[in-house]
Amino acid sequence: MDTLVGLCKRRGFIFQSSDLYGGYQGFFDYGPLGVELKNNIKQAWWKDFVHRRDDIVGLDSSIITHPKIWEASGHVGGFSDPMVDCKESKLRYRADQLFFAPVSLNGEAAGFVAFIEGTEAGDIVKRAKKLRDLKGDKQAVIDEAALLEAPTEFTEVTEEQRVLTLGPDAAALGTLTEPRDFNLMFETKVGPLAESSAKAYLRPETAQGIFVNFNNIVDTGRVKVPFGIAQIGKAFRNEITPRNFIFRSREFEQMEIEYFIAPDADWRTLHREWLDACIDWLVSIGIPREMVTEDVHPTDKLAFYSQATTDLMFHFPHGEQELWGIACRSDYDLGQHQKFSGKSTEYFDEARKQAKQEPFKYVPHVIEPSLGVDRTFLAVLTAAHCVDQAPNDKGVMEERTLLKFHPRIAPYKAAIFPLVKNKPELVEVARKLYEKLQRRWNVFWDVTGAIGKRYRRQDEIGTPFCITVDFETIEKDGTVTLRDRDTMAQIRVTENELIAYLEEKIDG
Ligand code: GAP
Repeated sequence: MDTLVGLCKRRGFIFQSSDLYGGYQGFFDYGPLGVELKNNIKQAWWKDFVHRRDDIVGLDSSIITHPKIWEASGHVGGFSDPMVDCKESKLRYRADQLFFAPVSLNGEAAGFVAFIEGTEAGDIVKRAKKLRDLKGDKQAVIDEAALLEAPTEFTEVTEEQRVLTLGPDAAALGTLTEPRDFNLMFETKVGPLAESSAKAYLRPETAQGIFVNFNNIVDTGRVKVPFGIAQIGKAFRNEITPRNFIFRSREFEQMEIEYFIAPDADWRTLHREWLDACIDWLVSIGIPREMVTEDVHPTDKLAFYSQATTDLMFHFPHGEQELWGIACRSDYDLGQHQKFSGKSTEYFDEARKQAKQEPFKYVPHVIEPSLGVDRTFLAVLTAAHCVDQAPNDKGVMEERTLLKFHPRIAPYKAAIFPLVKNKPELVEVARKLYEKLQRRWNVFWDVTGAIGKRYRRQDEIGTPFCITVDFETIEKDGTVTLRDRDTMAQIRVTENELIAYLEEKIDG
C-alpha cells in the first residue's frame, strides 16, 4: 500500500486533504491525473449501465434531503458502529476492528497490546516493547511467537484483561472503555434556525435519493418494471477509523443502481445475472477476473428484509475486502417510504393487468448493486501497478515501474512526441497530430528529454500508447511510430491507421 500511496502523491493522482494544514484524516483530494482516472471510471460505468441498457435511467439527487428520509430508511436508528474510547488519548476505535495480542515477558503473562485490524507484525512487536518498558523491565524477553499467533477479538477479551492492555495508539495501560453505538451520519443544520428542527444529514448512501424519486420517474419516464435507476454521487460517513488510504474514507463516491422487479419475479436468477454483469464490467476496465471473488452472506446474518447479499471481493494490498455489494432488498425501502410519507409507492403494472396476472398493483422489490468509486480506483490502481525490466537509452536493462491501466480508463490515452525539439518542421507535424487527437481524447504533449525517458514517464502514469513523429514521417511516407506501453513493441502506422487503432482500443 505504501508504494501505491507514494506513487499517487508523486505523480499527482491523490493527495491527503488539507495537506498544507497537516492533513485531515479520512478525506482525500484527487490531483490532475487522479481526477481523470476517476472521471473515466465513472463514465465507463455510466456508459455501460445507463447508456447501453434500455432498462436503466439515470438520476442526480440532492446530497441533503428531508431528514425523515433517514428515519424511514433506518439510518437514524441503526446506522452505527460499535465504538471504543481510549480514555487517555481520547482517540476512538471501532470495536469490531480491534484485536488483542498477549504479551508474555520472561515466560509470564504480562498483559495485552491492542491494535487495529491490518497492523503490521513489526508494529505489534514495537507495541509489545513499549508495554515491556512501561512495566519497567527493559531486558525482559518477549515471546514473539505467542504474540503474533491468532489475535483475540475485542468481544472475547474480558474487562479485567482490557485493564492490562496497552491502547492501539500505544497510550497508557488499561484505558479502553466498553463499546457503545456511534451513528455514522454527519449532521448539519439547514436554514437560519439554530433549533433541533433544522437538523439534517449529509447522505450516507446515494440509494435513498433513488427510492424517494421512484414515483417521479415512473410518472414522467417511459420506464416499466423491471427497470433500474442509476446514480453516481458523494456519500459521507463519519467512519470511526478511516484507514487503508481511500478504501475507507469519510467522504467518498458511490455508483448505485436500484433495479425494481415484481414481487414474484425470479430474484435468484436476476441476482446471479447482476453478479455476472458486475464482474464483466470490472474485467472490462482492466481488473483481472482472478482478483475478484464472491462472498455470499450467510442467511442468518442478513438483515430481516434482505433475501440475499453477495459481495464482490477484491484482493487489495491490505487483504481481500469488499468492493461491490449486490443485495436483494425486497420491498423494504419503498415500503418504509410509503409508511413514513403517507404516500403510495405502489406501481401499476399495465402489462400484468392486460394478462390478468395478479398482483398488478404492487410495491416493487429491488436488487441493489452498490459500488464505491474510490474503492474501484484503488482496485484499478492495485491491479495496474507492476515493475518489470526495460532497456534504457544506452540499451542497459533497468527496472521500469508501470501502471497497466486499460485504455478505457487511463488518464492520458496517448502521448505525442516529436523525436527532437530543434527541428521546427518535425515539431509542427507532431503538434498538428496532437491537436487533432486532443479533440477526441485526453492526450499528452512532451518535447523534453531523451525519447527513452519520455516513454518511462508515460509508463509510470499509465499512458497506453506513445506516438513519435520522426524524420521518416516528414521525409518519407508520413507514418509515425506507435509504441505499446505493456509490450514496448513499436510499429509504423499511417495517420488513418493510428486513429482506427486508438478508436478500437479506447472506445471498444
Ligand atoms: N446502499 C447500500 C450501501 O451503501 P454499503 O455496503 O454500505 O451499501 C456500498 O456501501 C459500497 O460503497 C461499498 O461496497 C464500498 O464500495 C463503498 N463504501 C462504503 N463505505 C465506504 C467508505 N467509508 N469509503 C469508501 N467507500 C465506501
